[in-house]
Amino acid sequence: MTETVSPHRTRDSSAWDSGERLGPDGLAGLQLERLQWTLWHAYDNVPFYRHRFDAAGVHPRDCRTLADLARFPTTTKHDLRDNYPFGMFAVAQDQVRRVHASSGTTGQPTVVGYTQHDLDVWADVVARSIRAAGGRPGHKVHVSYGYGLFTGGLGAHYGAERLGCTVIPASGGMTARQVRIIQDFEPEIIMITPSYMLTLIDEFRRQGIDPRETSLRVGIFGAEPWTSEMRAEIERAAGIDAVDIYGLSEVMGPGVANECVETKDGPHIWEDHFYPEVIDPVTSEVLPDGESGELVFTSLTKEALPIIRYRTRDLTRLLPGTARPGMRRMAKITGRSDDMLVLRGVNVFPTQIEELVVRAEGLSPHFQLVLSRQGRMDHLTVRVEADETTTATQRQTAPSLLVNAIKEAVGVTAEVTIVEPATLERSVGKLQRVVDNRES
Ligand code: DLL
Repeated sequence: MTETVSPHRTRDSSAWDSGERLGPDGLAGLQLERLQWTLWHAYDNVPFYRHRFDAAGVHPRDCRTLADLARFPTTTKHDLRDNYPFGMFAVAQDQVRRVHASSGTTGQPTVVGYTQHDLDVWADVVARSIRAAGGRPGHKVHVSYGYGLFTGGLGAHYGAERLGCTVIPASGGMTARQVRIIQDFEPEIIMITPSYMLTLIDEFRRQGIDPRETSLRVGIFGAEPWTSEMRAEIERAAGIDAVDIYGLSEVMGPGVANECVETKDGPHIWEDHFYPEVIDPVTSEVLPDGESGELVFTSLTKEALPIIRYRTRDLTRLLPGTARPGMRRMAKITGRSDDMLVLRGVNVFPTQIEELVVRAEGLSPHFQLVLSRQGRMDHLTVRVEADETTTATQRQTAPSLLVNAIKEAVGVTAEVTIVEPATLERSVGKLQRVVDNRES
């Protein structure tokens, strides 16, 4: 039996500093060693992996180089669902210190677990992430990610504490109160979904406060796709640096990757703990760095829930490191394969529409995509809110300008309607961008 305790438990209070600065040579050796341990750990302790590997004719001892990982089968959300709730866990229940779970709105929830060491590593990588974003010990961090089974709130919370920050555990919702707390407690950093930040910016204005005049200096935004245009919009409206944090519960939670504030060129992946690959989503073939495809992760140090080649459904490409030269970056996520709309044969991602809406003159950044059926054809309506500054002329001209921009950039014909300010539903966490009326 493989030891269920990671042999990489050699951490001290500055452990999160060392990995992030490893050069490529040191990193590759460490990754291989950790990968081999992970494969054995999964094979020995999770019947699901043992059967999968056996069926595919591979064995942990076949992994002699990092490239050998490609011989192992991938894991999907369905596999976690089929093993609900604890079937994918690799340690005895008394070693599991915490569980988190997905909301389960699209079916059976998926459950993930953490040993104490996993929780320590998670806090380390989130501490690293906040520091890359510009956070420093002593800063106050306002956490508006939801607390609970969702990994956002607690993940951010323990990372900020680990860095030596003061945490304000606001969680999501009660937006008027969030404004009050930010005004009174004067945090430098906010961690929040980009869509909820837009809601918060509106609430500041509603209360007669200029959002650029708050104590906030940096926002760490993630949990949903957002575009460079949205970054510019939020930075302008709130007078902050807006930095991207990426993660998913199956792999850990927030802090799998984080953008560095000095470059803002896509999240650096904390590769000493999470090994990335990009594959062709149809053939599953591993693609070379730089090519777009589906992001796949293998955990390198996780004890409770080792995850082998997890298919994230997130579409991106791997790029060389910049501000952290040893670690590769991922390009900003363009979308999830399951968010893709197909309109008359053309693939459309909500982020493509976001880019154009945010750039449009005189409109708010609040919009919604409504899908309906007209005859046998799918029809897309983009509903965009006007704001107080929208002129009568802009209300008249904006729809056709946006229709043309969408036709030109995305290649589909959409209908655009302008709606009154503050009429679209506001996000308090992850935003549901698409309303699908096709069945009704
Ligand atoms: O959303 C973890 C998280 C919390 C990340 C807070 C960042 C901040 P899940 O609920 O499991 O976990 O959802 C994971 O959210 O596969 C992506 O599709 C999406 N996602 C997360 N971060 C980003 C990001 C959390 N920065 C899923 N950009 C992922 C784009 C993101 N999409």
